[in-house]
Amino acid sequence: MILIIDFGSQYNQLIARRVREHHVYCQIEPPEISLKIIRDMKPEGIILSGGPASIYEKKSPRVDAGIFTLGIPVLGICYGLQFMVHALGGDVIAAAKREYGFAELQILSQDGIFTDIEKTTKCWMSHGDTIGKLPKGFKTTASTPNTPVAAAEDRKRRFYGLQFHPEVVHTPEGKKILGNFLFAVCRCQEKWTMKSFAREAIDEIHSQVGNGKIILGLSGGVDSSVAAVLLHRAIGNQLTCVFVDNGVLRQGEAEKVQDVFQKHFHMKLRFVRARKIFLDRLRGVENPEKKRKIIGRTFIDIFDEEAKKIKNVEYLAQGTLYPDIIESRSTFGGPSAVIKSHHNVGGLPKKMKLKLVEPLKHLFKDEVRLLGKELGLPEEMVWRQPFPGPGLAIRIIGEVTEKRLNILKKADFVLLDEIRAANLYGKLWQSFAVLLPIKSVGIMGDQRTYENILAIRAVTSDDAMTADWARIPHELLAKISNRIINEVRGVNRVVYDISSKPPSTIEWE
Ligand code: XMP
Repeated sequence: MILIIDFGSQYNQLIARRVREHHVYCQIEPPEISLKIIRDMKPEGIILSGGPASIYEKKSPRVDAGIFTLGIPVLGICYGLQFMVHALGGDVIAAAKREYGFAELQILSQDGIFTDIEKTTKCWMSHGDTIGKLPKGFKTTASTPNTPVAAAEDRKRRFYGLQFHPEVVHTPEGKKILGNFLFAVCRCQEKWTMKSFAREAIDEIHSQVGNGKIILGLSGGVDSSVAAVLLHRAIGNQLTCVFVDNGVLRQGEAEKVQDVFQKHFHMKLRFVRARKIFLDRLRGVENPEKKRKIIGRTFIDIFDEEAKKIKNVEYLAQGTLYPDIIESRSTFGGPSAVIKSHHNVGGLPKKMKLKLVEPLKHLFKDEVRLLGKELGLPEEMVWRQPFPGPGLAIRIIGEVTEKRLNILKKADFVLLDEIRAANLYGKLWQSFAVLLPIKSVGIMGDQRTYENILAIRAVTSDDAMTADWARIPHELLAKISNRIINEVRGVNRVVYDISSKPPSTIEWE
C-alpha cells in the first residue's frame, strides 16, 4: 500500500485515484498521523501531497519528519516537495508571484521516475514558493523556464520531489511518472482489483459482524445497491434490506428494485409502501427546504419502525464512500463537506443505537461501479445517474400532488427513453424533467389549451460541484418535446434549461 499524506491540496483525491488506477491500494491520512501508526501500516511508499500553505507560515501542516528515517521511498508533490526540502535542511524561497498553468518541462535525466518519459513534455504548475537550495544528497532532475528545480531526487535514500502536479490530466505524462514511482522505486505490485477487494471485504464483514444481523436502507442508487449485494455475499440472510417507496420515485423504479434484489438476488427485502404518508405530510407544502426536511424525517420514522420489527438487529449498513470520509475529517477540506451535508440522511445511526457497517468506505465512486459489475449487478443499475433523496418532490416546483406527480413521472419517462435511445444516458451526469408551477396558452387541434410547462434539465459534470448544461442535439430536443406534448396530458409547452452550476444548481429546488 501507498500512504498519501494530506496537506490540503484540492487535487488529493486525484492522487489517490491515479495510484489506484495502477492497481495499487493507497490511503489518504491527515498529517497529524503518528510515526508509530505509519510504521505499523508498512507502506511501500509515502506520497506527500500539495497544499495551499507556505512552509514558512506558522500554522502550515507538518507530518512527523521521522518518516525520512524509515527507509521508505517518499515522493513530495508541490508543497510536499517543499516540506521535504525544508525538513532535510534545504531552502525554500517565498515566491513574489504565483506560477499557475502549463509549463514546458525539460527532463535532465530520463531514468528513475522519469524512465521512458520524453525529454520535453508539458506539466501543470500551481505554486507560490519554490526550491532555493536542495538538501545534501539531492540533485535537480527537471526544470522549466520559470522553475529551475521542477523535480529533484536523492536516489540513494529514494526521495523524489515534483514541483508540478503529476495527478492532473494537464500533465500528460503524469500517470506514467506516478507509475514509475510505484513500480520502479517502491516495487509495488498490481494487486488492487475489485475482485481482490470483494474477497477481502467479505472476510472483513464476517469478522466484524459474526452472526449478527444487519439492516440496510436500499434506495436503488448505485452505492446502497452495491453495498447490499456485497453484504449479501458475505452474510446472506443475516442481512435485511429495507426499501421505502415514498411515492416520489420515478416510474417503474420501485418495481425494478423488487425485481433485482428479491427475484434475482433472493435477498430478504422489506418493501414498505409508504407513499400515502409521504404525500399526506407534503400536502400544501411549497417551500423546498421544508419538503426536504419532511421527506428526510419521514424516512427516518418509517425506517426506524421497520427496523424494530426485525428482532435483534445490531448493525446498520450504509453505502458511505471514501470521499465522504476524507472530506468529513479533512482539516483543509474546504467548504465541500458543508455543501453536501444536506444530501445524507443524518441522525439515523444515532437514533437507532446501532453499530455502523460501511463496507464501501475505502472506495471511490468509479471503483464502486466496477465492484457492482464484478458482483453481477445489472449494467443499468451500475451506471445509473444520481437521483436525489427527496426525489421528484424537488422537481415539482410548488405543491406536490398526486396529479402533478403523474404528469412529471410520465414526462420524465419519455425524456429518459429518448436519452437512452440516443445513447446519451451514460454521457450525461443527469437528465431529468421539472414541472413548473405556471401555465401557458397553447393550441391543440382546433382547441385552445391552458396547461403546464415542463422544463428539461440535462447536465455534464465530473462530481456535481460544478456542471454545464448539455449541448443536446436540436433534433433530439425536438423529438423529446414533441413526444412529451403528445403523450403526456397536461403539458403543452417544453423548455430547455441552459444554466450552468454555478451560479445555478443542478436541481431546481
Ligand atoms: P445541486 O442541486 O445542489 O445538486 O447542484 C448536486 C447533486 O446532488 C444531488 N442532490 C441530492 N442528492 N439528496 C441526495 O441524495 C438530496 O437532498 C439532494 N439534493 C441534490 C443532485 O441530484 C445533484 O446530483
